[in-house]
Amino acid sequence: MSDLLELAVVIPTFNEAANVPTLIARLDRALAGRVWEAIFVDDDSPDGTADAARAIGRLDRRVRVIQRIGRRGLSTACIEGMLATAAPCVAVIDGDMQHDETILPAMLDALQADPNLDLAIGSRFVEGGGTGEWDRDRVAKSAFATRLSRGVLKVDVSDPMSGFFLIRTDVARGVVPHLSGIGFKILLDILTTSARPLQYREFGYVFRVRTEGESKLDHVVAMEYLIALYDRRFGRVVPVRFAMFSAIGVLGVGVHMAVLSALFLGLSATFLSAEIMATLAAMTLNFFLNNALTYRDRRLKGARQLFDGWVSFCVVCSVGAVANVGIAAFLYDVREGGWAVSALVGVLVGAVWNYALSSRFVWGRY
Ligand code: GDD
Ligand code: MN
Repeated sequence: MSDLLELAVVIPTFNEAANVPTLIARLDRALAGRVWEAIFVDDDSPDGTADAARAIGRLDRRVRVIQRIGRRGLSTACIEGMLATAAPCVAVIDGDMQHDETILPAMLDALQADPNLDLAIGSRFVEGGGTGEWDRDRVAKSAFATRLSRGVLKVDVSDPMSGFFLIRTDVARGVVPHLSGIGFKILLDILTTSARPLQYREFGYVFRVRTEGESKLDHVVAMEYLIALYDRRFGRVVPVRFAMFSAIGVLGVGVHMAVLSALFLGLSATFLSAEIMATLAAMTLNFFLNNALTYRDRRLKGARQLFDGWVSFCVVCSVGAVANVGIAAFLYDVREGGWAVSALVGVLVGAVWNYALSSRFVWGRY
C-alpha cells in the first residue's frame, strides 16, 4: 500500500465539542486502510470545539484545525477547509454525526475508479437513503427549499441541499473563485457555479438524529438561503448586499416620514427639529437593520463597537445626504433636468455613497 494522502475530510463546526472525539473514532473505523486527514474548520466556538480537536491532533497527526476568528458561515468554512489540503479528494461532512461516514469509502472508490467523475454526493433521496426521524414540518420545509433550488440548478441532483459530498480537490479549487459562499448550501453553490456540468454519482444514506449539541439551522439560515438563490440569479446585476442595503434604506424613508409627520403634524414641533429627529430615527433603524442583516457576517457587537459603528454610520449618511441634495440641485438648476429625474439621480448617488463608505468604514474595520 502506498502512503500517499488520498482524502481530506473537512468538518465545519460550531459548538460541537462533545461530538469531536466520537466523530474521529468513527472516521478512523470507516476509513481503515485509507490514507486520510481530517480538517476541522471551527468558527471560534465558545464551547471549545477547536481545543477539543487540537487535543486529539497532538496524538493523531491526521487531525488538523483551522480556527476562524470573528467569522461565521458554514459555506465559507467548507471552502477554506477544501483549500487547506494537499489530498486529491476532499469530503465535507457535518460535525454532529448526522451524516453517515460509513459510505465514504464507496464514494472515494468511485472517484478513484472513474477519472471522469467529479463528485460523489451523499443523498437522502435515492435507494438506501432517508430523512430518518425528521418531523413532517422539517420534511416539508426541506422539500420546498429543494423545489426552489430547481430554478437555479442545471442538473437533476436528487438532494442538492446535501451537505455531505466528496469532490476532486482540483475541481473544487477551480470553482472556488466564483462561489457566492453565502449561507448553508455549499453543494448547491458548487453545482450552480461550475461552468461545465459536473459528473456526479449519488450514494444513499439515512440522515441520523443529532444526539449531542444543537442545530444551527434557524430563520437567519433560511433567509440566507433565499439570499443565496437571489445572488445566483440576479447577483451580477445588483449585488445582494447593495440590494439589501437599498431595501432597508427604503424602509428608512418610511420611518423618516412617519416620525416627521408624528412630530410636526401631531405634536406641532418645528419643522427643523422634527426633521432632525426623523433623520436620526431613520439612520438609527437603518444602522441596526444593516448590522443585523446586510452585514450579519461582520456584525458589530458590544456597546463600544455598536456606538462607534452608529456614529460613523451617521457621519457617512450625513455626507451622503449632502451629496444627494447637491447633485439633485446641480442637475435641476445647472443642467435644467426634470425635477423627478434630478431627485432620483441624487438618491441613487447618495445610496451608492452610503453603501460604499459604510461597507468600508462602518463594517470593514474588524
Ligand atoms: N464553521 C462553522 N460555521 N460551522 C457551522 C456553522 C458556522 O457558522 N453553522 C453550522 N456549522 C456546522 C455545525 O456545527 C455542524 O457540524 C454542521 O455545520 C451542520 O450544522 P447543523 O446545524 O447541524 O445543520 P442541520 O443538521 O440543521 O442541517 C444540515 O442538514 C442539511 C440537510 O438538509 C446541514 O448539514 C446541511 O449541510 C445538510 O445538507
Ligand atoms: Mn445537524
